[in-house]
Amino acid sequence: MNSIKPSPTFAMVAKAAAMMAEGKDVVSLSAGEPDYDTPQWIKEAATQAMANGQTKYTQVGGTVALKQAIAEKLQKDNGLIYTPEQIMASTGGKQVIFNALMATVSAGDEVIIPAPYWVSYPDIVCLLEGIPVFITCSIENQFKLQAEQLAKAITPKTKWLILNSPSNPTGCVYSADELHSLAEVLRDHPHVNILTDDIYEYLVYDGKIFTNILNVAPDLADRTLVVNGVSKAYSMTGWRIGYGADPSTLFKP
Ligand SMILES: Cc1ncc(COP(=O)(O)O)c(C=O)c1O
Repeated sequence: MNSIKPSPTFAMVAKAAAMMAEGKDVVSLSAGEPDYDTPQWIKEAATQAMANGQTKYTQVGGTVALKQAIAEKLQKDNGLIYTPEQIMASTGGKQVIFNALMATVSAGDEVIIPAPYWVSYPDIVCLLEGIPVFITCSIENQFKLQAEQLAKAITPKTKWLILNSPSNPTGCVYSADELHSLAEVLRDHPHVNILTDDIYEYLVYDGKIFTNILNVAPDLADRTLVVNGVSKAYSMTGWRIGYGADPSTLFKP
């Protein structure tokens, strides 16, 4: 526990709240949180579910109906085919990432994290005594990881590459071509798993199109964990619902 530090994001959230309490006009760019409320139809569905008595323990990985709905979403929005058994819902995308790394990273294992990065990734890796391997992505490359950089960073100890597009904090979106180049490198290193954090999928601007690496490299599916959730897409950050999809047996008992 001593190897990790409190989330700088939440330190900034607290600071912004304190400044607002002093009456200052603050635009907080700290937490990745939409500035509108959860849509009314979602709140009504939740109220109805509570009224129907859906307030008890569920299956650990989410109800069958929820997993079915996630499978339909992945197929409809992303062209990715998963069965409900290959999906696990959890208390936010962060929990999914934590669980996946917890289950697979041993002391000394390396996890490649393109920088700038979401602050939670390295702390999760450090908590597990893994080694975060940062690759600095330059402004000239729009803060995106280049294939040559990836090839250089991979070692026999590399366990995961974390890909986050659209990215927190840069907002950069990887194109299909860019993902294709990264996939070429990954094909040469079958021991590297890919965690694709798609949580900002719908926050794309300027005509950019969200693409998952599996759209251009379906052959990598067996070692790819797709992470997503409702926090950013539907302004449901406090609801704590995220999910992971993975066809392999890596995360199964
Ligand atoms: C890049 C990234 N991934 C995952 C998450 C986790 O979101 P949640 O746990 O709310 O699903 C966040 C939240 O800030 C994020 O910025």
